[in-house]
Amino acid sequence: MAQAAGGLAARARAQGILFGAAINTARLADAAYARQMATEARILVPEWEAKWAALQPEEGRFDFAPLGTVLDFAARNAQQVRGHALVWHQAMPDWLAPALAEGPVRARALLAAHVDAVLARTAPVIRDWDVVNEAVANAGGPFVAPTPAIGDLRDTPWLRALGPGYIDLAFQLARERDRTLRLTYNDYGIEGDTPFAEEKRQRVLRTLRRMVGARVPVDALGIQAHLIMDEPFRPEPFAAFLRQVRALGLSVLLTELDVREAAVVPLDLAARDAAVAARVEAVVGTALAEGCRTVLTWGLSDKDSWLATDKDVARKDGGIHRGLPLDAEGRRKPMWQALARLFEAPPTAPPR
Ligand code: XIL
Repeated sequence: MAQAAGGLAARARAQGILFGAAINTARLADAAYARQMATEARILVPEWEAKWAALQPEEGRFDFAPLGTVLDFAARNAQQVRGHALVWHQAMPDWLAPALAEGPVRARALLAAHVDAVLARTAPVIRDWDVVNEAVANAGGPFVAPTPAIGDLRDTPWLRALGPGYIDLAFQLARERDRTLRLTYNDYGIEGDTPFAEEKRQRVLRTLRRMVGARVPVDALGIQAHLIMDEPFRPEPFAAFLRQVRALGLSVLLTELDVREAAVVPLDLAARDAAVAARVEAVVGTALAEGCRTVLTWGLSDKDSWLATDKDVARKDGGIHRGLPLDAEGRRKPMWQALARLFEAPPTAPPR
C-alpha cells in the first residue's frame, strides 16, 4: 500500500520533502496506529528497536526480530527507514558499560562488532543512520538539565572508554562498513532562543567543525526538535545556526519533532492547539527555509507518544501533551494542518 494521497507524506513528497515518524512495534497490533503510520509517513525510524539494548541484549547475541518487524512494515507500505542509534549513552544493555570500562581495546572491538553486525543486517534498506546520538553536553538552564561534561562533550561510558575520539571512530567504522550510507550526528536542545540553547549550538558547531576539519565522515546534523513551549523561540538565531551547519557541507534534518506544552495551558483546547501549531510552523518553517528536506515526528498521535508515558517529559498535571499531529483519537489537529501547509508551500525565507 502506498501512502494515502491525503497524508502528510504525500503532500511533502510533492515538494521534494521527506516526512515520516518514529514507530514503536509494541503498538502495531493497534489497527488505528498501524493505519496512521502507513498513511502519514514515508520514512520510519524505530523508537526503540535499533538501540543497543534491543539489538544486543547480551554480548555477541544479536536480536534483530523487533527491528525486522519495522523493516517488514516499511516494506509492505513502500516506506524508507532511518536507523537510530549506533552510539548513545542511554538504552545500553546492562552488560555494556562495565565491558566498555575494561579499556579502550575492548571498547573499540565492541563498537566495531556492533556496527559491523547491525549494518550488515540493515543494508541495503536503511540508508541513513544516527551514528552518534546526544554526545554534546547540555549547558543546563531552566528547561534542560545540565549534564556532566568533559570539554563540550557529555561524560558517558563511551567517552570514558575511548576519549573524545569515540565519535570519530563510530563514524569511521560506519563509513568503512558501507560507503553509501548517510551518516548523521543527532542532538537536542538547539532550537530555542535562550543562552543555554545558544551555548549548546556553539558546542555542537565546534564539535561538527572539528570533525569536518579532521575529515571524519559526517554527512548531516539531525536536530531532534523536541520543542518546549515554555522555552522562547525566535527564527533568526536558529536560522543562523542552520546556515553555519550547512556551510560546513552538512545536511540538516528534523528527526524527532514533538512539542511539550507549557506548564500552564489555556482551558480552551483550540487555544492550546493553536499555540502548538504556531510553534511548529515557526520552527519547521525556519528549517525548511534553510534547506532542510527531511522531517520526522516522534510518533504521530498524542496517545502513543513518550510525552504521554515517560515521566521525565509527561505533563505534571495529569493531562497529556497535545504535541503531535494527531490527537488521542487519531484526529488531525492544527499541528497537522500547519505541517500540511508548510509541506504544500515550503517557505523560502524564515518566518519573522
Ligand atoms: C525515547 C523513547 O521515545 C522512549 O520511549 C524511551 O523510554 C526513551 O527514549 N531522544 C532520542 C530518543 O534520541 O531515542 C528518545 O526516545 C527521546 C529523546
